[in-house]
Amino acid sequence: MAEFLTRIQVEGTAAIIRNRSRYQPTVGIILGSGLNDVANAVQNADVIPTSQIPHWPTSTVPGHKGRLLLGRLEGKVVLVLQGRTHFYEGYNMDQITLPVRVMHILGIRTLILTNAAGGINPSFHTGDLMLIKDHINLPGMAGANPLRGPNDASFGPRFPDMTEPYDAQLRQIAHDQARAAGFETREGVYAFVAGPSFETPAELRYLHGIGADAVGMSTAPEVVVARHAGMRVLGISTITNMAKLHPEVGDVTSHEEVLEVGQQVLPRLTALLHGVIRHLPTAVDEAETA
Ligand code: HPA
Repeated sequence: MAEFLTRIQVEGTAAIIRNRSRYQPTVGIILGSGLNDVANAVQNADVIPTSQIPHWPTSTVPGHKGRLLLGRLEGKVVLVLQGRTHFYEGYNMDQITLPVRVMHILGIRTLILTNAAGGINPSFHTGDLMLIKDHINLPGMAGANPLRGPNDASFGPRFPDMTEPYDAQLRQIAHDQARAAGFETREGVYAFVAGPSFETPAELRYLHGIGADAVGMSTAPEVVVARHAGMRVLGISTITNMAKLHPEVGDVTSHEEVLEVGQQVLPRLTALLHGVIRHLPTAVDEAETA
């Protein structure tokens, strides 16, 4: 397939989804590794396997299901993507960020992304939830930015501002809702790496040195595309493992560990998402999608 998807192609994809669902979503949710079950609470969902959607990349990773759910959650109409795809699977940046563009065309103006991440900040613990306040898009800075290529001004500007990639108001709502549910959230900088190999100790010490609190293999490209289109973004990292900056003999990082901790965190992550969605400033949402 061509490297860059055109507006016509993205609109065609959005039209298929529109035709297959009764709902007009205003909130988009992209779920990360091992976190798919958060979508079980979506009521009366229309379910669309992503394999049936043109141009849509299909997930090849265990723990990623590959389907869209449209339905109600906490009084809002949401579109949930179970099974995001990653750059390391071999897809190009246009493909992995297609869901975000489609969501925008469907009228979604608030995007919530979750991911599994390795904790770099030494005060973090396995099982912590970190609200992303900023990111370091290492592949993006080195050339694999999802906006590389012709800019279609109907999506957004050639040189979009990234001063506040993650919405401060949504972050505050998330902090408050976590507290109301009886736990504290962390906050920090997420470093996006291409993967799929986990980082070496020297790479982790480098990431620590440049200001990263957590590291993972997703999210930043989707956020760049969402901000390009002016969407409000909330990013939540589940710290599934502590990165080994100074490993001891026998230390390893595995995908199984990532999935296992993801499962343990699900009740808290679910409570957090419910609280945030219940308290989203709907007036802003509706005004923007009208
Ligand atoms: N590194 C990169 N990606 C990850 C990690 C990690 O330690 N844990 C979960 N996703």
